Amino acid sequence: MHLLTVLDHPDPASFSAAVAARVMAGAAAAGHTTELADLNAEGFDPRWSMADIEADRTGTPPADVRTEQIRIDRADAIAFVFPLFWWGMPATMKGWMDRIWSWGWAYDQLEDPEQSLQRPRTGMLLVPAGARSDEMATLGYRDALETLWINGTFGYFGFADRRIEVLNGSKGSASRREALLGRAYDCGAALQPPVGPSG
Ligand SMILES: Cc1cc2nc3c(=O)[nH]c(=O)nc-3n(C[C@H](O)[C@H](O)[C@H](O)COP(=O)(O)O)c2cc1C
Repeated sequence: MHLLTVLDHPDPASFSAAVAARVMAGAAAAGHTTELADLNAEGFDPRWSMADIEADRTGTPPADVRTEQIRIDRADAIAFVFPLFWWGMPATMKGWMDRIWSWGWAYDQLEDPEQSLQRPRTGMLLVPAGARSDEMATLGYRDALETLWINGTFGYFGFADRRIEVLNGSKGSASRREALLGRAYDCGAALQPPVGPSG
């Protein structure tokens, strides 16, 4: 399988960047090929603009959008890595999703999120978070992310296998962080081919 890891963090020495490296290391150890989309290092422009709106009319996406779609075309699995910001995703990752997974390419209708135009893939979110897991569960944030991302977004993306790993306590001790990096490695090592609708 080919794993595309999409990273949103400007600091190459960040915990998020380490998470991205570990999930790819796990996948490589299991015999998969890997590719990193480092959105900040590559200067991806996350702003949804008139060019994106025109693309809906003409059917021809902006060149930077097409480049990312071609990356997705060759991926069997996609890992999204970003720090949890205000119980959501940081701006560059949000813009990457807004612009790339466009109408007519990812989906052609809105009423059923399970009718993607994309082939089945494995999708996972690896999300470092400062909060504790019990705090997130009790206050309903964990369920909210599941609803928004796993149910409300990954269906449109065509992901057959979906996984969210909130890496709670990412600002904690060195041993805590090493355990979280181990979880990221395991996610890569455990990659399975996506099971399609007929599978
Ligand atoms: C702007 C901002 C918003 C944040 N919002 C949240 C949040 O809503 N929930 C949470 O658990 N942590 C939040 N954090 C903490 C980050 O998730 C944490 O610092 C990050 O996971 C650390 O990863 P890094 O070292 O790769 O930056 C926030 C941090 C920043 C800077």
